[in-house]
Amino acid sequence: MQNGRTVQQHTVTHLMTSAIKPVRKAVFPVAGLGTRFLPATKSMPKEMLPLVDRPLIQHAYEEAREAGIEEFIFVTGRHKEMLEEHFDYQPELMETLESRGKTDMIARVRRSEMPAGKLFLTRQPRALGLGHAVWCAKALVGNEPFAVILPDDVVLAEKGCMRQMVEFYEKMGGNMVSVMDVPREDTSKYGILDTGKDDGKLAEIKGLVEKPKPEDAPSTLSIIGRYILQPEVFEYLDAFETGAGGEIQLTDAMAKLIGRQPFNGLRFDGTRYDCGSRIGFIQANLAYSVRDPEIGPQVRAAVKKMAESL
Ligand code: G1P
Repeated sequence: MQNGRTVQQHTVTHLMTSAIKPVRKAVFPVAGLGTRFLPATKSMPKEMLPLVDRPLIQHAYEEAREAGIEEFIFVTGRHKEMLEEHFDYQPELMETLESRGKTDMIARVRRSEMPAGKLFLTRQPRALGLGHAVWCAKALVGNEPFAVILPDDVVLAEKGCMRQMVEFYEKMGGNMVSVMDVPREDTSKYGILDTGKDDGKLAEIKGLVEKPKPEDAPSTLSIIGRYILQPEVFEYLDAFETGAGGEIQLTDAMAKLIGRQPFNGLRFDGTRYDCGSRIGFIQANLAYSVRDPEIGPQVRAAVKKMAESL
């Protein structure tokens, strides 16, 4: 009897885990204009802005790879070709580096090469909102869970933010967003959670509101640009309903999954920088560069000196 029960329990656990499909694909919405960085982004995509030695899009790609993502789906738009090119093998460059014996640099450039057959491109012809951008990837995602990574949001962490999410997801399935507390006056910049059960790390999501006014916000727990979603979200995105700011919001479609599927907010470990703003971008560059093994000590000294003279 004892044995019989153990076997049964194992079977149930096995069934539950085998029902959780792995997250193999990530969608990167990169069609945005980057007006806050003009004129730097006049002809260059904002996702190509460098964070120390790599463009933002490469940081996002590396975070996805660390999380076990195998297929990378870029939702691009006009003037964004540079983003695809960045992940290509560049034979002339490699030859030059080899002939100069620059082995260190070769290894660094190699990190920016996407494995063959793993980059998928789709386009968002009009800027109709984040929900619409994700919807544009519907055919490439198909019927399986997927990650969404907004390259503007950079998370400095020991273990990548998406890796942290995937580890929780593998235990519980469903949908998940990474979240952080923001000052109440900032709720109108984010998707905000209404929470249920909350153990301080993981919060069950009872409701989601896109960019509520501080007085209307159900909490101050905000979504950052990291999502794991079930393909059913496309059923709601299909409706093309507009929400906050007249845009098709991903948050609104996600809200409709609540009650139908598990939905949790994960308080990730690490620091998030909003690289879509100039101040966030500068802070991220400082935070990443002081940790850089090569230039870190120099940056630290320079920052100290500068701070003294302010
Ligand atoms: C988007 C989402 C919002 C989320 C934010 C995170 O807003 O719509 O829910 O909190 O990203 O960066 P955006 O910054 O594109 O206006």
